[in-house]
Amino acid sequence: GSLGRFPLIPVRGVPLMSLIANNWDSIWDFRPDPSDLLIATYPKAGTTWTQEIVDLLIHNGDAEICKRAPTPVRSPFLEIFSPPPIPSGLDLLKTMDPPRVIKTHLPFQLVPPAFWENKCKAIYVARNAKDNLVSYYFFDRMNLTQPEPGPWEGYIHKFMQGQLSWGPWYDHVKGYWVEREKRNILYIFYEDMKENPRREIERIMRYLDLSVSDEVISRIVELTSFKNMKENPMANYSCIPAPVFDQSISSFMRKGEVGDWRNHFTPEQSKMFDEDYERQMKEVNIPFRTLI
Ligand code: PPS
Repeated sequence: GSLGRFPLIPVRGVPLMSLIANNWDSIWDFRPDPSDLLIATYPKAGTTWTQEIVDLLIHNGDAEICKRAPTPVRSPFLEIFSPPPIPSGLDLLKTMDPPRVIKTHLPFQLVPPAFWENKCKAIYVARNAKDNLVSYYFFDRMNLTQPEPGPWEGYIHKFMQGQLSWGPWYDHVKGYWVEREKRNILYIFYEDMKENPRREIERIMRYLDLSVSDEVISRIVELTSFKNMKENPMANYSCIPAPVFDQSISSFMRKGEVGDWRNHFTPEQSKMFDEDYERQMKEVNIPFRTLI
């Protein structure tokens, strides 16, 4: 397979990596089992963290079982068609029996409709726009299959204009927000997970109709701390070889904090971003705890 940064091709107006766009029909036609769980996020909003929490909850906090394979093998990435040696999400899903935990970055309108026809559960994780943008910027530098991020200032504009892979953040967080009640989607926030991981893990537990002891919850809080996940080879994406992820450029487990945007936005950039944000977000009031 040829490696390199893939161009973006719009699918119903949403820019997706060419490998995904060129396989679109097979993704759209995917039929999950009603027992499958979807974890949906805009890229870099806390997907891997949530995948680890869910795997541990399902396995009653058993750390060894949850080290049976790297994150993308335990919990396949629905739409990914990566260059070899990484199998496509759809191929991996064919080898697994339900119930499966499936990751997606697709915006609501591009999620295969069979998920909703089958009334699958879904967890959506949202992260405040500026930290999400910063995290994505560093990721696009080290993920050598994503388009070149270019200079920082230009990247802010690409984010604001929805030109990054998987499209606009604004439509993404709003799309799931407006559908959350009708589709029984659990909508959670990265900042809430940082503030009180136990509370959010218990919320996920209840949503999944699981019952896990307080002691096991404490263990899951510990096992899914940023520090422990950064050191866990089955959670830190060290499984993805250097021609795809070059973690010497930036770690997948980079910083794991709220408010890191302050170290990257100038006051002028922040002001410009906030003014545009007001405009793009005015019709839906999503309770982000930390924007500014
Ligand atoms: S991806 O590629 O879209 O699946 O990435 P995703 O997992 O959504 O986001 C990666 C960011 O989440 C941070 N992260 C964590 N933060 C706190 N605690 C834990 N346990 C944790 N695990 C991952 C990761 O460091 C990335 O954020 P930044 O801000 O870049 O550090």
